[in-house]
Parts: sequence; structure tokens; C-alpha cells
Amino acid sequence: MRILVLNGSPRPGGCTSRMVEAFRGGAEAAGNQVDVVEVCRRNIHGCLACEHCHGRGGGECAQKDGMGEIYAMLKQADMLVIASPIYYHGISGQLKCAIDRFYAVAYPSRPERLRKVAMFLSSGDPDMYDGALFSFKGDFLDYLGLEDMGVFTVHGGDVEACLGELREFGGGLS
Ligand SMILES: Cc1cc2nc3c(=O)[nH]c(=O)nc-3n(C[C@H](O)[C@H](O)[C@H](O)COP(=O)(O)O)c2cc1C
Repeated sequence: MRILVLNGSPRPGGCTSRMVEAFRGGAEAAGNQVDVVEVCRRNIHGCLACEHCHGRGGGECAQKDGMGEIYAMLKQADMLVIASPIYYHGISGQLKCAIDRFYAVAYPSRPERLRKVAMFLSSGDPDMYDGALFSFKGDFLDYLGLEDMGVFTVHGGDVEACLGELREFGGGLS
């Protein structure tokens, strides 16, 4: 299976990145291809709502920026992982910009191969996930109709506790 991970954390070696790496280790060992995009290191602008993509653009975004490579990967991906720290009760702003730009390729229908989605979240406090989960359910499960592969959370920097579980989760995919 080809898996696209969008990591919305700007912090190298932070909790979100460690979650992603544990997952990647398990998934690759099981023979999956995992592409991790460090969204915060890309130049990705917010959606302009120009509707070029749904008109003359024929599914292509008018903006030519760091999103181009993600669009190409989305076409190939069977599964998507949305990974983010919680910032002000939601996903990071950089990741939100990237997700808004899905509008060009995932509206009105989803990318051809994409069937599954999972979410990894890291927060300071427990039970801070309602905002991110609302988007996960509304945008990815209900709207795109993707299969819910699970939500994994850590809080207070206690990332060690879930690394084994994430490795195992990745290892169970094929
Ligand atoms: C700008 C900012 C906003 C944050 N907002 C919240 C919040 O609303 N709730 C919370 O529990 N933690 C909040 N945090 C803490 C982070 O979610 C937490 O430190 C997380 O583990 C960071 O992930 P990382 O290690 O991948 O960078 C915030 C941190 C930053 C920098």
C-alpha cells in the first residue's frame, strides 16, 4: 500500500515527528511505501477560492507552490495520515493550509486510489482533540468517505507510551 503522511509539526524530533517515524518504521517493514511530507518546510499558501481548479483549470490549482508535489502524491496514495500538534484546539495552521488546498483535487470527488485515513495528534493537555476530530470526521470520513483506520494521541510529551502501538499499527497495514 502507498501511504502519504502529512506532518503538520514544525518541530524536528518533536512528539508528532516521533509518532510519524514509529509508524513509518512499522509500515515500511511490512512492505508499504510511505511518503512523509514535512508540511511546515514547504512553501504552501492558503486556498484563494478562485475556483480555477473547478473551471478552466480542470482539477489543477492556479497556485504553483509547494503543494504541487503533494497533489502528485495524493494521486498515488491508497492511505492518508494526518499528523499534527494541537495548536489552539485544532491542527497547525500550516497543515490547515495544505488541507484547504485539497479543494482542487478532492472536491467534488476524492483522489482515485485513496480509500483509508488515520490521524496522529500531539497536545499539551489531554482531551484537546475535539477540533481536530471534527475535521477528521467531517472532511475525511463523511465527506470523502474514507475508511477510519484510527486516531492516535499523545499528550504532555509522553510520546514513548504510544510508539510501540504506532509501529504495530504500521506493521499491520498491507
Ligand atoms: C502555538 C501553540 C499552540 C498550542 N495550543 C495548544 C492547545 O490548544 N491545547 C494543548 O493541549 N496544547 C497546545 N499546545 C501544545 C502542543 O500541542 C504540544 O506541545 C505538542 O506536543 C507539540 O507537538 P510537537 O512536539 O510535535 O511539536 C500548543 C503549542 C503551541 C506552540
